[in-house]
Amino acid sequence: MKRIFFPCAFHAENRKKLINLLPSKSLALVFSNDRMPRSGDLYFPFRQNSDLFYLSGIVQAKTILALCPAHPQPEYREILFMLQPDAARETREGHRLTGEEATAVSGVKTVMDVEHFRWMMDDLACSSDHIYADIEENVKRDSELRTFDLRAAGWLKSRFPLHRYGRLATLTAQLRFVKQPEEIQMIRSACEITRTAFDRILGRTAAGMNEYELEAELTFEILRNGATGHAFPPIVASGKNACVLHYNDNNRMICDGELVLFDFGAELAGYNSDCSRTIPVSGRFSARQRQLYEAVLRVFRNVRAIMKPGMSIEQINLQTRRFWEEEHVRLGLYSMEDLRRQDADKPLFRKYFMHGVTHTLGLDVHDVGDRRQPLQPGAILTCEPGIYIPEEGTGIRLENDILITPSEPIDLMEDIPVEPDEIEERMMTRIIEN
Ligand code: GLY
Ligand code: MN
Ligand code: MN
Repeated sequence: MKRIFFPCAFHAENRKKLINLLPSKSLALVFSNDRMPRSGDLYFPFRQNSDLFYLSGIVQAKTILALCPAHPQPEYREILFMLQPDAARETREGHRLTGEEATAVSGVKTVMDVEHFRWMMDDLACSSDHIYADIEENVKRDSELRTFDLRAAGWLKSRFPLHRYGRLATLTAQLRFVKQPEEIQMIRSACEITRTAFDRILGRTAAGMNEYELEAELTFEILRNGATGHAFPPIVASGKNACVLHYNDNNRMICDGELVLFDFGAELAGYNSDCSRTIPVSGRFSARQRQLYEAVLRVFRNVRAIMKPGMSIEQINLQTRRFWEEEHVRLGLYSMEDLRRQDADKPLFRKYFMHGVTHTLGLDVHDVGDRRQPLQPGAILTCEPGIYIPEEGTGIRLENDILITPSEPIDLMEDIPVEPDEIEERMMTRIIEN
């Protein structure tokens, strides 16, 4: 089923936890994403703001959630401001939620016309000392767009300049960092769809195919299993294209003897999976390819083993450097002597491994959570070492999604083939059968 909803109790409980983190007499405001224009009168498929989804389950543009827990009138303590039903518009754009439907999805009893937001703010803000506005805070966000959250915050600060303002995103990040059982289950299901897509790839990859044909195979399997779609534009990178970390042109003929790097994942009900695999197009690794692949696999296992409570992303990256230095020396990429003489500002390992080994995963592919914050049980992170050697026209990355537990980490992608022998066996079976 493509549209999978959480019970409204999930969102109601999330609101309750958020309210417990707010000072008394606070007003919290969370804004939907905008519909993003594509060209002419077309729009990109709508993707809801992750915090608004987490707190309400509503997947509709021009929506605002207001939480004002100390308001003297109980019906104003939780309000959803939304577009009103409009038969003519709905004929073109599809169904808009009615007030009753929005209440059923979110558990928020008061639903008002979004046109009433500004004048209702006079009442809500005057009953509050603090205004916590939810502004997207991803440190890597690089956009000049003045999105709904920024437009609203600008208006609020000019209309109510003497309130104390707070950042809601730091509080939602604390909550979203630790996943609840229903969220873990949703990510497990997304990983399961991702597995079926990789199974399909193992059965169909062959020299002479174009990268986009394999992208189509991934897309076919992801969509037919009821996922919302790709978690991010999928990467199908053959040969030296694999050395471009976010390559996604996916438009090159794959030659015999090359490796193909896939980085892809299904999104299900807003929750993401993120997987990388690298396979030999002809079904057999060359000796050198296997040597490099096994080095990546050893680092993958070493990193996964240290993904435990108390470790931070920063500490995991520091350890990963040690793992890679050992492997790079073993591979002859540099010597122990080179390591002793390396420039502290330009560490040698970075030449062959130039990205972080892990990030949090959830409603955002690169999810919330501070890199210095100790991991806690319930956090889900990727484990994604890679080696990139453009001189050899080779890039290899392996990536699984890992659940942190009080003891050993649980690999949510354990059943996606990663052993080189298994990959070869699966690919050779396909070649023999055809
Ligand atoms: N696919 C994006 C990443 O692995 O971080
Ligand atoms: Mn990743
Ligand atoms: Mn990835």
